[in-house]
Amino acid sequence: MDPKRVTLALVGYGYWGPNLLRNFMEVPNCQVKYVCDKSVTQLRRVAPKFPYITTTQSFQEVIDDDEVDAVVIATPISTHYHLAKKALLRGKHIFIEKPLTADSQSAEELVRLADMQRLILMVGHTFKYSPPVVKIKELIDSGELGDIYYISSSRVNLGLHQPDVSVIWDLAPHDFSIIFYWLGEEPSRVHAFGRGCVKPDTPDVAFINLAFDSGTVAEVQLSWLSPVKLRRTVIVGSKKMLIYDDTESVEKVKVFDHGVNFIEPSSFEEFQLSYRSGDIVSPHLDNYEPLYAEAKHFLDCIREGKRPRTDGLDGLRIVRALEKAEKSLMENGNFVEDSRCKFRVIR
Ligand SMILES: NC(=O)c1ccc[n+]([C@@H]2O[C@H](COP(=O)([O-])OP(=O)(O)OC[C@H]3O[C@@H](n4cnc5c(N)ncnc54)[C@H](O)[C@@H]3O)[C@@H](O)[C@H]2O)c1
Repeated sequence: MDPKRVTLALVGYGYWGPNLLRNFMEVPNCQVKYVCDKSVTQLRRVAPKFPYITTTQSFQEVIDDDEVDAVVIATPISTHYHLAKKALLRGKHIFIEKPLTADSQSAEELVRLADMQRLILMVGHTFKYSPPVVKIKELIDSGELGDIYYISSSRVNLGLHQPDVSVIWDLAPHDFSIIFYWLGEEPSRVHAFGRGCVKPDTPDVAFINLAFDSGTVAEVQLSWLSPVKLRRTVIVGSKKMLIYDDTESVEKVKVFDHGVNFIEPSSFEEFQLSYRSGDIVSPHLDNYEPLYAEAKHFLDCIREGKRPRTDGLDGLRIVRALEKAEKSLMENGNFVEDSRCKFRVIR
């Protein structure tokens, strides 16, 4: 039997919106009826490719249409709360891009509202639907890596500087959602340090440290100002170590049978460590597009009344951690006093 048809409206057709549109259109029995954007220039890009989709600048028109079951929001973060609240109050299911909102109070309100209205609220934490991230979760849960000592992650590239948020709100949602998912816990302590190099009041580089009750520690390096694009995570466990490089086209995940054994000494002279350097294995990964899996999951949740894997509560946890990181950066970082990065040419 064909799945029940779901009619959607996409709001926000900037950088990310077209990717969402392409994937939602591929899901069986999903009709995208509207693309809404306040910019006419952006809307003009829709018609040549998708003449049967109605384009509009009016969000009200979209949510007043009773045929629309759900609204997909891909607008700047500062607009998420107001758009999602209006749509929930009009009875629409919501898929909203990361991060859920710009503060935890608004996120809590949306979670409560969606529950009260019995509507789906799903956040676009895309990496939780990505094959390498899912495979690493399986490896950690199976105990193959042992106890996780630490995680170190780099997410840096040149641009895109966001006009309304710091690099923390733009990039850390990815690392936070991945790391919290892998470890099954939220950090008890968050510390961040960084600065605004290009615009002094907008941090574009940040180094975040996380401590978890399990004992695991993590560091996340974020930057819009880097000569190369890095998407690289190192996980060190008591049994094995792992490197996840999302820029690789094949072998994104490599598991190293490397480690150190500490032999309990009976005297100081006997103190010794034995280093193990064994096989390096790249596990098989499923081959599907994370965004398609995410889009399909949202529609399945609407049809079956299931709670999404990345529901509003998941989004709220990330927003809380982002707030802590931003607060720490504002209190301890030196970017407020330092006016500009000074680049020195070394000859
Ligand atoms: N999951 C991912 O990997 C990923 C990647 C990039 C961006 N994002 C997220 O997607 C969202 C959008 O980011 P972007 O880079 O596409 O931004 P963008 O600025 O390129 O595009 C946003 C679009 O929204 C439109 N817009 C703004 N306010 C509006 C309103 N009130 N009503 C209708 N349209 C409005 C703008 O005109 C613009 O076309 C953000 O939440 C961002 O964090 C997610």
